[in-house]
Amino acid sequence: MKYSIPSKPSSIQAIFDKKDWASAYCNVEKEFNNAKLKLIKGKVPNELKGTFYRNGPGRIERNNKWVHHPFDGDGMITAMKFDNGEVEFTNKFVRTKEWEEEEKADKFLYRGVFGTQKEGGVLANAFDIRLKNIANTNVIKIGNDLLALWEAANPYVLNPDNLSTIGISNLNEVLKKGEAFSAHPRFDPGHHSIPRMVTYGVDAGPKSTIRLMEFATSGDNAGKLINERKDSFNGFAFLHDFIITPNWAIFLQNAIRFNPIPFILGQKGAAQCISSNPKGNPKFLFIPRESGKYAKEPARVFDAPEGFVFHHLNAWEDSNEVVIESIFYNDFPSIKPNQNFIDINFDDLPEGILKRCRLNLQRNSYKLETLSEQCCEFAMVNPLKEGLAARYSWMATSFQKSGNAPLQCVKKQDLLTGESCYWSAAPRGFVSEPIMIPNKTSNIEDDGWVLVLIWNGERNGSDLVILNANNLNEEAILELPIGIPHGLHGSWAEKT
Ligand code: CO
Repeated sequence: MKYSIPSKPSSIQAIFDKKDWASAYCNVEKEFNNAKLKLIKGKVPNELKGTFYRNGPGRIERNNKWVHHPFDGDGMITAMKFDNGEVEFTNKFVRTKEWEEEEKADKFLYRGVFGTQKEGGVLANAFDIRLKNIANTNVIKIGNDLLALWEAANPYVLNPDNLSTIGISNLNEVLKKGEAFSAHPRFDPGHHSIPRMVTYGVDAGPKSTIRLMEFATSGDNAGKLINERKDSFNGFAFLHDFIITPNWAIFLQNAIRFNPIPFILGQKGAAQCISSNPKGNPKFLFIPRESGKYAKEPARVFDAPEGFVFHHLNAWEDSNEVVIESIFYNDFPSIKPNQNFIDINFDDLPEGILKRCRLNLQRNSYKLETLSEQCCEFAMVNPLKEGLAARYSWMATSFQKSGNAPLQCVKKQDLLTGESCYWSAAPRGFVSEPIMIPNKTSNIEDDGWVLVLIWNGERNGSDLVILNANNLNEEAILELPIGIPHGLHGSWAEKT
């Protein structure tokens, strides 16, 4: 398949066939160990030395029964090892306790958070409020551990080389059994001398408590907890992601309602019990970082714009102001109990819009600015700019310029001028989260590469695409031996 023609998104409606998009939702039936990827085009840059890890649902059907939402699919990890201009591919399911049980039984034994039900109707599901840890949301390497993350429970730890599952992890006694641990850690590039991983867990209820944790990421201490604090806030907080600056950990508490009754009665998944609350007051929750200048001070709460946010791009401090860039939806997108996710109409779902909120901490007031009208997701800045003013962002976008549509392009946007350039997989390709890797030998912010996995609808398989981060020109395309369903998050781990 030839990509990048047409290369520019147009004002016309999307030019995709929904069958191509839906064809990505298939089970991954094979696991590979160090299979050499077939180079289709270009050259793999020699400077790329490390592993591109991805996580996402890999099993979405059992015994002819489909998950209700792909987010309920069991986590399958992919590792693409870059060395000497070649790429080796390994993929493995996370052997969670529940995955092992369901493999044996060949049917769904657990309910999914997004609405997947056990067989036997409402009666079989009522009062079964166990959560299945599907370890499918993100994958990160810290020290010698590879962690498969799912935000409502402990992570699973895997061998970073062969992806074998070692077991559920309490991170050296840091986590209690079953304690929530976010799937969205942020990597502080060195705001307080050494790089760190900053992350959190939420205990949500009528009052919600955030446990903020900072871990060392380098040397013998990698994986060790450096500091932590706990802060409680009013209201049920659904906090999928957050952002950091040198002095703050920042959360956006969406205005939502959570009514757990249909979940308890077996009628809905827990996430289907969340809805937007038009009368609610969205808030920014600012928790001081323990190494920053407000350490030990109480957390602060500020008014936030309306809308629903899953993912943030970046934040930075600018004297009395903090600037926060996030992807806003005008409503909470969900798939109703009687809907099939394959049949969704993209026009019925809200699109993600990148916005910048300039918040004045002294006046508790903000100015909101739209950075792009184009539907986007999975945006990032150069990781060395995390928490600092960054000029460029890389993200996944639709092909069309407005409205909701599948993600088919990688876009680089200049956040100062609004100028942008694209790489497109349309009409038959669909992009996942692009990962920007800086060129270590350069100080130029947009010098580096972008790695992205594509669902190639023409051959029902996945391709690994390597782009130049500066202009999104294709550097190389490699063919994977399998097709990987539209996935969630991933990361890059430098070879050590
Ligand atoms: Co996410």
